[in-house]
Amino acid sequence: MAFTQNDSSSVLITGTTSGIGRGLMDFYVKKGIKVFAVNRRQDAALEALYPTVEFHKVDIQDAAAVKKLIADLVDRKKVPSIFVLNAGINKVDNDEFFSLDGFREVLNTNLFGALNFVAPLVALRHQLPETKIVAISSVTNYAANPYCLGYYISKKALTQSFKVFCEMYRKTNLKFKWVVLGPVLTPIVSSSDKFPKIMTQIKNWFSVSVDRTVKAIAKFAVSNRVSMIFPFRARILFRGIWLAQQLIPGFYRGRKRS
Ligand SMILES: NC(=O)c1ccc[n+]([C@@H]2O[C@H](COP(=O)([O-])OP(=O)(O)OC[C@H]3O[C@@H](n4cnc5c(N)ncnc54)[C@H](OP(=O)(O)O)[C@@H]3O)[C@@H](O)[C@H]2O)c1
Repeated sequence: MAFTQNDSSSVLITGTTSGIGRGLMDFYVKKGIKVFAVNRRQDAALEALYPTVEFHKVDIQDAAAVKKLIADLVDRKKVPSIFVLNAGINKVDNDEFFSLDGFREVLNTNLFGALNFVAPLVALRHQLPETKIVAISSVTNYAANPYCLGYYISKKALTQSFKVFCEMYRKTNLKFKWVVLGPVLTPIVSSSDKFPKIMTQIKNWFSVSVDRTVKAIAKFAVSNRVSMIFPFRARILFRGIWLAQQLIPGFYRGRKRS
C-alpha cells in the first residue's frame, strides 16, 4: 500500500549552500513548494533567509546518515515527490600526478553520494507513490578530462547507473531521470582554474546562467522525459572535444608532466 504523502508537491535537494542547488531551492520556495535541503554544513544565514525550508545537515557520503534521513521522512509521511540529487564536487586530481585521495573523494560524493539516496528509495519502491529521482550529471561524461579524471568517471558512472535504474524500475513508482548539464556559471566552474586557459575560455563561451539552468531543471523534473541535455549546444562542445581526442595525437598534452 502506498504511503499517503502530506506534501505531494515537495522536493528534496542536495547541496543548496551554493550554485544550482541554491538556485533551485530559491525557485521552489518562491513557487510555494516545500523544500527539504540536505547540506553537509549548517549555514545559519542561509537558514534565516529561508524559514520555510527544512534543512538537514547530512554529508551525502555518509550512507547511514542518508538512510536515517529517508527513514525519518517515511515515519513522518513526508517523503517528497521529487529528489534532486545535485550535490557534487570537482577536483583537479591528475595535474602533476594522479591523486587517489582526490579521485576517491569525487567518486564518494558525485557517484556514491547519489547512490546513497537510491538504495533506500529502491527498498521502499513498493510502498512509495510516484517519486521522481533526478540526477544532475554533466556533459563531461561525453569526453574524458585528464585533469579531473574522478569528475569525468563519476559523472559517466552516474549517468549510466541512472539509465539502468530507469529501465530496471520502469514498472515501479520510482521514476529515474538525469540531467546532463553544460557549463553553468557557478563556483564549481571557477574552481577549475588549473585547466589550460583555452579550455576555460571555451567553457565560458558555452556557459549559461544559474537562473536559466534552474528553470530548465524544474520544468524537466515534473515532465515525463527521462533525460535532458542543457543547454543543447554544450553537447556539441564536449562531442567536439571527444573528436579532437580521437583525431589529434597529443591533444591535452599542452602541459609538461614528468
Ligand atoms: N556548474 C557547472 O558548470 C556544472 C556543469 C555540469 C554539472 N554540474 C553539476 O551540478 C551540480 C551542482 O554544481 P554547482 O555548479 O552548483 O556547484 P557548487 O556551487 O559547488 O555547489 C555544490 C553543492 O554541493 C554541496 N556538497 C558538496 N559535497 C557535499 C557532500 N558531501 N554532502 C552534501 N553536500 C555537498 C556543496 O556544499 P558546500 O557548500 O558545503 O561545499 C554545495 O552546496 C554538481 O553535481 C555538478 O557536478 C555543474
